[in-house]
Amino acid sequence: MFDDLNITIERDVALGAMTWYKVGGRAAFLAHPADVEQLQQLIARCRQQKLPFYIMGAGANLLVRDAGIDGCVIRLDAPAFDYLRFEDNRAIAGAGFDLMKLVLATAREGLSGLQALAGIPATVGGAVRMNAGGAYGDTGSNIRSVRVMSDTGQTYAHDRNELVFSYRRSNIVEPIILEAVFELEPGEAPEVMRRVKEIFLYKRNTQPLGENSAGCAFKNPPRREEEPPPPSAGSLIDQAGLKGFCIGGAEVSRKHANFIVTHDNCKADDVLAVMEHVRQTVLQRSGLNLQREVVVWP
Ligand code: EPU
Repeated sequence: MFDDLNITIERDVALGAMTWYKVGGRAAFLAHPADVEQLQQLIARCRQQKLPFYIMGAGANLLVRDAGIDGCVIRLDAPAFDYLRFEDNRAIAGAGFDLMKLVLATAREGLSGLQALAGIPATVGGAVRMNAGGAYGDTGSNIRSVRVMSDTGQTYAHDRNELVFSYRRSNIVEPIILEAVFELEPGEAPEVMRRVKEIFLYKRNTQPLGENSAGCAFKNPPRREEEPPPPSAGSLIDQAGLKGFCIGGAEVSRKHANFIVTHDNCKADDVLAVMEHVRQTVLQRSGLNLQREVVVWP
């Protein structure tokens, strides 16, 4: 299907093993385009062949179903997508660049703004797409512009004033993010680094970072105007007595109830079953219908 294209493509790849849950099935194709032109050729071929394509970031917020993906998974891990450069107070990063490296590099440059993203495993593209963040801030707050590719292979930039970032989402409809420009504030490197470490330590103390998980499984319930903020998903699941609840190899973390951790021989189905049990239990107990934060393929 891709043989006449000069693109690095692996076949029948254990995709689940590449996610942070370390569970789930295989992908028919895993492609590593070398540059934008190859990426365009690749998605044109997928469209022609009616083969769905998926862009995989760090796999840190992703659950691949056990049946796997009958499609083409694309990783933007070639140097043409994995770069960072600075221009004045701006950091310009390719979609494949590691978010944690970006946070540390900006801190070392004495540029302030991305501290809130400390300790979030992601690529820049994934973080922009999901508006990754937490209690201290999110990815969208410092975005100056985002370069994207449409499903027909056209590339263009969205400027700050066209972009809307809200809780764990953005209004970017194009399937591929190519690059993000972050507008940062000049600061003192030691001070920025101190805050990065502080936020990372908070996470390390409250989250099971050493175990296999995809971070928070559910979004926090939305706030409604003029009402007191609802409890967080973590505390709702905790209060429902679900810490330690397990099905097969999937378990509600005892450290942070909104994390599902996976053990040896865990199946994606186990994770989905735990999620469903959690959702129903919390719904019955509190009337709140938790929405999944983790992305499920296909
Ligand atoms: N809580 C419990 N029991 C628990 C976990 C939490 O009672 O098992 C309580 C805490 O005591 C606290 C409240 O719930 O009062 C909120 O907990 P936390 O500070 O851990 O924040 P969170 O709302 O659960 C959010 C993000 C995290 C992010 C942290 C820190 C969501 C769904 N989660 O968690 O993001 O790391 O803030 O910034 O927005 C992720 O998106 O994957 C993720 C882990």
